[in-house]
Amino acid sequence: MSSIKRIGILTSGGDCAGLNAVISAVVKSATQKGWEVYGIHNGTDGITNKPHSFEILTVKNFSDTPWPRLSGSYLGSLNKGVKMESLEEMTKKFAIGVKELGLDAVIVVGGDGSMNIVSNYCKGSLVKVVGIPKTMDNDTPITEFSVGFHSAVQVCTSAIDSLELTARSHNRALIVEVMGRDAGHLAMHSAIAGAADVCLVPEIPYTINGVINKLKEIKASGRNHAVIVVSEGIKTESGNLVSTKKNMVGEAVYGGIGQYLCNEISSRYNEFQIRSNTLGHIQRSGVPVAFDRLLASMYGAKAVEILDRGEDNKMVVWKNGEVSSVDLSEVVKAGTTLLNPKSQYVKVAKELNMYVGEI
Ligand code: F6P
Repeated sequence: MSSIKRIGILTSGGDCAGLNAVISAVVKSATQKGWEVYGIHNGTDGITNKPHSFEILTVKNFSDTPWPRLSGSYLGSLNKGVKMESLEEMTKKFAIGVKELGLDAVIVVGGDGSMNIVSNYCKGSLVKVVGIPKTMDNDTPITEFSVGFHSAVQVCTSAIDSLELTARSHNRALIVEVMGRDAGHLAMHSAIAGAADVCLVPEIPYTINGVINKLKEIKASGRNHAVIVVSEGIKTESGNLVSTKKNMVGEAVYGGIGQYLCNEISSRYNEFQIRSNTLGHIQRSGVPVAFDRLLASMYGAKAVEILDRGEDNKMVVWKNGEVSSVDLSEVVKAGTTLLNPKSQYVKVAKELNMYVGEI
């Protein structure tokens, strides 16, 4: 048994489906241990800003409402791209905040960036920390799956299904641009699930002629339509990002590669009408699918169990069908996990006769 009496839980970074199921699982497990749970509003802002912004969470918040079944974050989230003070300044504010709130531990639900930031903040105080990975990009290292990924794959796969049907009616090749930043997991998983004809990901080089050759092959086979999945993080053929927009911390804001491909393909090949669709933030907000809710429940309970054992500085992970944990320092050291071009996903896509680039 640990000496914990009160924990905080916060969601950090871009939202995704399944966050509320995580919060609910943490509240239920922590309540069983007799701990009090503070739900921190808007990521670490609820701790570092004054007045502190939080609410006491009880099982009733979730069992008497549909919240665990909904996407979005009940607590609000702090997105990257917001200008913050220096790490030193924020660490001090965080230490003061956790002391004033009387928190013995903080559970952070976030991606690799949030794990890095919050584990640094925690070094400045005695508060314990455990991370739960969430991101529709599925690029948090070490864990096979982050909460939110499979729900986003479902949204993208449904979009591919819908586009395939309208493409058939109009002799079209329809492009769908999906999120994922520099990782092609979301594009590749949904392209395989949706039986797309082409999938372009940032990790594998491609050529426009490679895409056109695939369209010619489809035409020659007698089929009059095609679906092309494009990850937002791929660059133009000459290696540039299409968007020149930056967020407030100077990171590139992605988007526009679908339309670029549409223009380039149309200018060189006209046997199909080409149109581009960008799915955008709808991918973050689908109904949380069963696997994400299962992950959320298992991760939430595991995070509480870790703290109860007196351990901290861990992130829960899913590996080989089981939940375990790793040191947060390992997660921070590993950085972002990209799609491995040698993975079984890419191999299978090629075996299914999908054009996945020059590999
Ligand atoms: O990291 C999650 C993610 O949805 C990315 O896939 C996407 O590029 C980005 O966030 C969008 O961020 P924003 O909400 O700031 O537009």
